[in-house]
Amino acid sequence: MSMWKHHGKLERHSLLLIIGIVLVVSIGGLVEIAPLFWIKNTIEKVEGVRPYTPLELAGRDIYIREGCYVCHSQMIRPLRDEVERYGHYSLAAESMYDHPFQWGSKRTGPDLARVGGKYSDSWHRDHLIDPRSVVPESVMPPYAFLAGKDLRTQDLKAKLEAMTRVGVPYTQEQIDQSMTDLQAQADPFSSDAVALRRRYGDKVVNRDFDGDPARLTEMDALVAYLQMLGTLVDFSTYQASAPANER
Ligand code: HEC
Repeated sequence: MSMWKHHGKLERHSLLLIIGIVLVVSIGGLVEIAPLFWIKNTIEKVEGVRPYTPLELAGRDIYIREGCYVCHSQMIRPLRDEVERYGHYSLAAESMYDHPFQWGSKRTGPDLARVGGKYSDSWHRDHLIDPRSVVPESVMPPYAFLAGKDLRTQDLKAKLEAMTRVGVPYTQEQIDQSMTDLQAQADPFSSDAVALRRRYGDKVVNRDFDGDPARLTEMDALVAYLQMLGTLVDFSTYQASAPANER
């Protein structure tokens, strides 16, 4: 019974109550946060995850510049309705080379974490030029100007170098060859595509993403980026492993 007497004291003194609340809440916080300081790694290694190719990286910058993240998230949560709609839930490793990450917090439009390969390049072009031409009820704004803007590549090397500063493992070769790789990926007939695939993996496809073989535009880069989203991990062979601290 005496315990309840003291509880009465706690409830009548707001300062005591606040101290009590802080104490109790911090136990929960400590249990969740403290282990993170001792485990070696919070991101499991997943096969297939690689840094962006130069063209994809340029496209990603356009995605950020245009604020696509304002309406689109890139994180599929492990909930049944999300997994049924979008595919396998997102893995931490899938955004390990995203600086800044594009998880987002608003879904005016659908999640884009696995949009890669869902539509053709020409669908993406039509959709970005005039969303309502393919989805009549769409409220997405048009981005037709991207098809008319030459892709800025002067700072390409610097972009890759900046990424290495925050831990993306681009090799010196990848940095030196970034311009060649970028052009190779946007050209279906490029003889440099073999080297591009050697540097970034067999799955990288070189295509004319914007449908205009004469020009390298911002549309090329953005579509190349959208088409690779969520395609790196092969989920037919992927097996979730135990968290790093349990290995
Ligand atoms: C004002 C909010 C808004 C902005 C900003 C926006 N979108 Fe959308 N987006 C939507 C909506 C709503 C849809 C669903 C209707 C449709 O398909 O057009 C959509 C659909 C899409 C789809 C098709 C997804 C699917 O699975 O069917 C893609 C791809 C896409 N947007 C890319 C982009 C890109 C790239 C940008 C930036 C250049 C962008 N969006 C900016 C609202 C937006």
